[in-house]
Amino acid sequence: MTAPAIDNVCRFIEKNGPQFEADLVELLRIPSVSADSQAAGDVRRAADWLVAHLQGFGQQKMGLTVELIETPGQAIVYAETPPVPGAPVALVYGHYDVQPPDPLDQWISPPFEPAVRDGNLYARGATDDKGQMLTHVKSVQAWLAANGELPLQVKLLIEGEEEVGSQNLEQFLADNTEKLACDCVVISDTAQFARGVPAITYGLRGIAYYEIHLQGPSTDLHSGVFGGAVTNPANALTKIMAALVDDEGRVQLLGFYDEALPLSEREREEFRSLPFDEQVFQDQLQVDGLTGEAGFSTLERRWARPSCDIHGIWGGYQGEGAKTVLPGKAAAKFSFRLVPNQDPKKITASLRSFLEPLVPAGIKMELIDYHGAPGIVMPLSSPFLEAAADAIEIGFGNRPVFIREGGSIPIINTFAEKLGAEILLLGWGQNDDNLHAPNEKFSLADFHNGIRASAALWSCLAGIQQNP
Ligand code: BES
Ligand code: MN
Ligand code: MN
Repeated sequence: MTAPAIDNVCRFIEKNGPQFEADLVELLRIPSVSADSQAAGDVRRAADWLVAHLQGFGQQKMGLTVELIETPGQAIVYAETPPVPGAPVALVYGHYDVQPPDPLDQWISPPFEPAVRDGNLYARGATDDKGQMLTHVKSVQAWLAANGELPLQVKLLIEGEEEVGSQNLEQFLADNTEKLACDCVVISDTAQFARGVPAITYGLRGIAYYEIHLQGPSTDLHSGVFGGAVTNPANALTKIMAALVDDEGRVQLLGFYDEALPLSEREREEFRSLPFDEQVFQDQLQVDGLTGEAGFSTLERRWARPSCDIHGIWGGYQGEGAKTVLPGKAAAKFSFRLVPNQDPKKITASLRSFLEPLVPAGIKMELIDYHGAPGIVMPLSSPFLEAAADAIEIGFGNRPVFIREGGSIPIINTFAEKLGAEILLLGWGQNDDNLHAPNEKFSLADFHNGIRASAALWSCLAGIQQNP
């Protein structure tokens, strides 16, 4: 691609920056919470918004096809630019669904009324993933508007169920490997290493997510009349949950670590060489200490070692003041983060055999297996990574570092397996963007840099020599 072509694109991006922000704000106003069945109509509105938005570029008759594809759950938005013989094909994956906004009272401005403060756009989904995903939509728009065409074929695949495990996308992928055929998958749904330190992520953790219910007596009881003789499900639950991890931070399920891919000495060395300051990290979170698996550093624990977290735990009285009740039931949501080679199915089986003997007399247990996905670690050298690093340098002004991260993108292994494509995790977010938490934000500078990097990526990738 010629230099004038990318210059035209950059001029278009520069000129339309405010409009791009306004478009993102519109999308952020739609409360597309996939976990909430009551919000299904809003999730659908986000898909419809994207389709209409993409069709807006296609009116310029530049061969952009746009489809809304139904699934048993939320729809998939799919668009593609025309094939470019001799150039690789890039598939962009992103998601338009968001996490629940709770707890609402901790938001400074309401989650679905986007607000700008200190150069950041605050809203649920700002960074995860509407803002990041839209950078690629906007770069495609800019290429089409400025040059009428892209230097390679781009396919956009944007789903509405990432935050609930991507199960319907799994099926769609299995049925449409030809339609989705590509040389690389581009995903912006991770973070930079720090401000001014962009990153390419070469590994993510997997996940296995559960809910446990303990049923005791058929009704709540007076704890004075019955306590000490009747098993309290909340007492039983805390004991069971505490047994999952020992004092050294090791998960206690049988065989849990058997297949876990260990960190190599070389990788540990590379993690140590990253500009990470434990004290600064601690101060940012306002905690006075950190804990985790013995023998591993904070970055190792977050990126490359398994973990176990309770996401919610309830039972008994939660209101004001003291109430002496022996609750009839108690429950918790929890998950294990997994590292490559750990199999979520085996983990579930091991969890069941771990839990069963711990259930005391007087309690019935139910375990719900919500979703699971394995972790991934990818090779560190390829022409695609080089092209991505060049594009990031153009967009962000600095070359990226190579990192792993601890979050999960459930569909990612299926992309690697079913499409045989290389995966480029190019995250534009920051670690303090408050994703899944109150006051989620996305830096507007990162939004615009991301659009520029994405625009440059198309020409950098197009320059890769294809096998005839
Ligand atoms: N974008 C995140 C994943 C992520 C975040 C990766 C930060 C790396 C750094 C994604 O939307 C997400 O939250 N995934 C869920 C997956 C789950 C619900 C199946 C997660 O990791 O909890
Ligand atoms: Mn995400
Ligand atoms: Mn998320």
